[in-house]
Amino acid sequence: MAQQSVLFICLGNICRSPMAEAIFTSKVKERGLESLISVDSAGTGNWHVGEVPDSRTISTLAKHGIAWVSRARQVKPSDFTEFDYVVAMDQANEADLVSWKGSDPDRVSLMMDWAAEVGEEVPDPYYGGLDGFDKIFEMLDRAADGLLNHIVSNRSLAV
Ligand code: 4NP
Repeated sequence: MAQQSVLFICLGNICRSPMAEAIFTSKVKERGLESLISVDSAGTGNWHVGEVPDSRTISTLAKHGIAWVSRARQVKPSDFTEFDYVVAMDQANEADLVSWKGSDPDRVSLMMDWAAEVGEEVPDPYYGGLDGFDKIFEMLDRAADGLLNHIVSNRSLAV
């Protein structure tokens, strides 16, 4: 069983959090940690449940040689016991998660805090162009490094 687990959260679970999930998963695999760290993503909204990620998320990931990982689902109360890190993309997601049924606010964080960009939000790219997806890729890549370094260095993994 994985020793640490990370759940990335956005609104629709088709743009930002599936991109974060795929980037983080590829970094976990690069370091050979896939049996120790499990990764998933979910949305606070339910409009896109069951869908694959937005085509712009898929193509932006593909430019970096990364494949998307999972279909959209909505947050559920058991996520707050199953996942050690519940990572929100923006402050509205974070506020929703803190007040969610079954919430454990101690597990909830904001993605860019892991890049030491405290309080910064990963902007919703859904209604913009492809350049917005390139921008969030760079942000997510930075924050994913910070979060993975934190998990590896805080000795919560017995490797
Ligand atoms: P995401 O982007 O939260 O990054 O997945 C969105 C996707 C869909 C919608 C909003 C945001 N929507 O309203 O359908």
